[in-house]
Amino acid sequence: MTNYRHMNRLNWNDRTRIHAKSKFYDVEAFVSGDTKLSELDQAELGSVAGRTMLHLQCHFGKDSLAWAQAGAKVTGVDFSEEAITLARSLNEQMGLDARFICSDIYEAHEALQGEQFDIVYTSYGVLCWLSDLNLWAKLIFSSLKEGGTFYIAEFHPIAFIYEVVDNLLLVSTPYFDREVQAYDASTTYTGDDDVLEHSTSYQWQHTLGDIVSALTGAGLTLEFLHEHSYTVYNMFPGHMQQDEQGRWRLQDNNYLPLLFSIKATKT
Ligand SMILES: C[S@@+](CC[C@H](N)C(=O)[O-])C[C@H]1O[C@@H](n2cnc3c(N)ncnc32)[C@H](O)[C@@H]1O
Repeated sequence: MTNYRHMNRLNWNDRTRIHAKSKFYDVEAFVSGDTKLSELDQAELGSVAGRTMLHLQCHFGKDSLAWAQAGAKVTGVDFSEEAITLARSLNEQMGLDARFICSDIYEAHEALQGEQFDIVYTSYGVLCWLSDLNLWAKLIFSSLKEGGTFYIAEFHPIAFIYEVVDNLLLVSTPYFDREVQAYDASTTYTGDDDVLEHSTSYQWQHTLGDIVSALTGAGLTLEFLHEHSYTVYNMFPGHMQQDEQGRWRLQDNNYLPLLFSIKATKT
């Protein structure tokens, strides 16, 4: 049987090496002070000052370190050794006190040794890498203190069933397709030409219902589920335009949700 997570980890290590020098992530500007967080996440999560935060699938820590600058005591977890090494180095360069743990999400409970946090946060491009959302939600529940908050901002699953084909925006994948999908892409999403040595990755589609049910099934209480008509990148080239705040919207009208966000609590 294919070891999906092993293959994905190799793929993410390759991507991280490219991301570290990409214009897309612009690490140099970040270290020099361009540490903006997503306005949506900031507005919806509210103040994090003085609160402990577990950042799941933190990649190389850009958002984790920005939350640390906003006053949170952050622990970032990611399974890519390359990403965690870079995150630790940026943490040091920026004189912050975030902690980074290299662990698979599905082994993070042991790695965290039962530690609990005020906030569990995760965002943008995380769920498609997870085969089992119930286990993910259990990790979130057990990692939160009583009264703690879970927040996610993520690409809307309905948007993933569309694809641009011959300049037309068409439905290309069944929404309810829960089987693992193998993707072979020689480059990463940052627009760089560098070729990935491990080009095959494995991803899963989750419906909005599956996501919410996993969280409530694990014991979390939903505070809100918001759907948004914009996203953070040019998802459908030729069909999108940027608004004054730099958010990407469909050209004709807001006929599809492109992002969703959830806030939930452990009551
Ligand atoms: C798209 S990135 C998250 C991006 C983040 N929002 C950002 O822009 O920095 C997805 C991250 O999930 C991590 N990842 C994927 N599968 C994982 C798993 N099973 N356990 C832990 N991390 C995983 C990858 O290493 C990668 O850093």
